[in-house]
Amino acid sequence: MPSTKSPIIGIDLGTTNSCAAFVQEDGKVKLIPYKGGDYTIPSIYAVDDKGNELIGHEAKRQWQLNPKNTIYAAKRLIGRSPKDDVVNTMRDVVAFNLAAGDRNDVVIECANRTFRTVEVSARILNKIRTVASDYLKVPVSRAVVTVPAYFTDRQRQAVKDAGLLIDLEVMRIINEPTSASLAYGVGKGLKETVLVYDLGGGTFDVSIIEIRDRVFEVKATGGDVFLGGIDFDNAMIKHVLADFQSKHGVDLSTDPVAMQRIKDLAERTKIDLSSRAEVPFNIPFITMTPQGMPLNIEMMFTRKLLEQLTSHLVDRTLKTCAQVLVDANLASGSIDEVMLVGGQTRMSLVQERLTKFFGKAPSKGVNPDEAVAVGAALYAHSLEDNSNIRLQLLDVIPMAIGLEKAGGEFHVVFPRNAAIPNAKRIVATTSYDNQDALAMRIFQGDHKLVKDNELLGEFTFSGIRPDKAGRVQVEITFDVSVEGILTMSARDPATGKEMKTTVRVT
Ligand SMILES: Nc1ncnc2c1ncn2[C@@H]1O[C@H](COP(=O)(O)OP(=O)(O)OP(=O)(O)O)[C@@H](O)[C@H]1O
Ligand SMILES: [Mg+2]
Repeated sequence: MPSTKSPIIGIDLGTTNSCAAFVQEDGKVKLIPYKGGDYTIPSIYAVDDKGNELIGHEAKRQWQLNPKNTIYAAKRLIGRSPKDDVVNTMRDVVAFNLAAGDRNDVVIECANRTFRTVEVSARILNKIRTVASDYLKVPVSRAVVTVPAYFTDRQRQAVKDAGLLIDLEVMRIINEPTSASLAYGVGKGLKETVLVYDLGGGTFDVSIIEIRDRVFEVKATGGDVFLGGIDFDNAMIKHVLADFQSKHGVDLSTDPVAMQRIKDLAERTKIDLSSRAEVPFNIPFITMTPQGMPLNIEMMFTRKLLEQLTSHLVDRTLKTCAQVLVDANLASGSIDEVMLVGGQTRMSLVQERLTKFFGKAPSKGVNPDEAVAVGAALYAHSLEDNSNIRLQLLDVIPMAIGLEKAGGEFHVVFPRNAAIPNAKRIVATTSYDNQDALAMRIFQGDHKLVKDNELLGEFTFSGIRPDKAGRVQVEITFDVSVEGILTMSARDPATGKEMKTTVRVT
């Protein structure tokens, strides 16, 4: 039953599909349907040739014909620097143009306009909000939004910024696997250690979570923000292109419409191969010979071939699982349940390999498409004033946060898997007479050299009192919030005076 007062909704802002849910007055979680049907909305934004904006299903429906102005997988780009390898890899496979923005971010060119990635995510969030408001018949203004556990501070901040752009109050950012564990564990009085294996469209996350009734404590997390169903599709596409080239001597990769048709069929074939052993892969009139003869793609795709083409991707996920077990100081046998989340976990190879790895079959305890949104809705509900459920989420940061030392070395302030919220203080001193400002560059990542990590920002503390070198101390506080977002402040311990802090991301 739609409620009369606007609830805080839970939103799973996915790379390929987004989903929203809320807790009804009777305490049950309800997924918000789109026009009575689907519970998910494709995370796709497009502009058609008349200049109309299309979001979700409408955008997906036309993307074969309008690939250049159809933006998908913006989540892979959000909060990233244009120099990032991930961005370069993405540039090779998408039909829309990516360029460098002026905030060390990526911008997308679409229909003669330039969009910041947060603007694209904001539009998708807004669509979800509109669908929810229509369904609930009250304007929705507050939400809990999930992000991959493996998102950095900058990526989390970017999602909050997307909310700000559309006046949606993001009450709390929570991690997708943690959210899924809520869907599994809330209200059951459990005492279990679960491992959430979340392989979605664009990202892979794994978290080990200890559930003690209403306390959900993340022991360790790991992942890859550039590994998901899209990469399985791309492995298939690469094979189809090579096969076509060898049969006809034609490279289809430069033809955006042909590529889009192949991409579409690759994904559908991949999905069919989760329930069938072989599926024909045929596309008529994909191109023409210079003589004007039409050429078709005609081949058979077997599950075996798909497995051959993608088993290295599954290997990568298992390597991460092994590392996360080490980080949590647990043996694979001490995991009570392995929860599967994300559409790509329907692939039988994934399930078989996990069964072998953990010595037991994964749990069927949650719906892989809905668990993240359901958990977000449960958490959202616990934040309501009149709520009678109190949930305690104890999460961690996915990668170390620290500062640049002389010579480009990385000095770790918070190690990977440090519990959040968390605060640390370091004391620095001036290095020359009358130094009035101190600058430091902060990074996130697990590499020894800062150049291999992600720059979070360059912080400048100014207003240092004039004195001889080494005589003034600057006490710098690093604060990581429950959402995994860093703020910094500095004070003069002798006077107690706060210094002015400015952040510059270049
Ligand atoms: N039956 C299936 N077999 C194999 N893959 C599938 C199946 N159903 C869906 N997928 C794949 O799952 C992916 C989408 O999963 P999901 O909706 O969980 O991702 P998402 O939440 O949008 O992404 P992310 O969580 O990475 O941001 C797509 O790549 C899709 O092709
Ligand atoms: Mg997901």
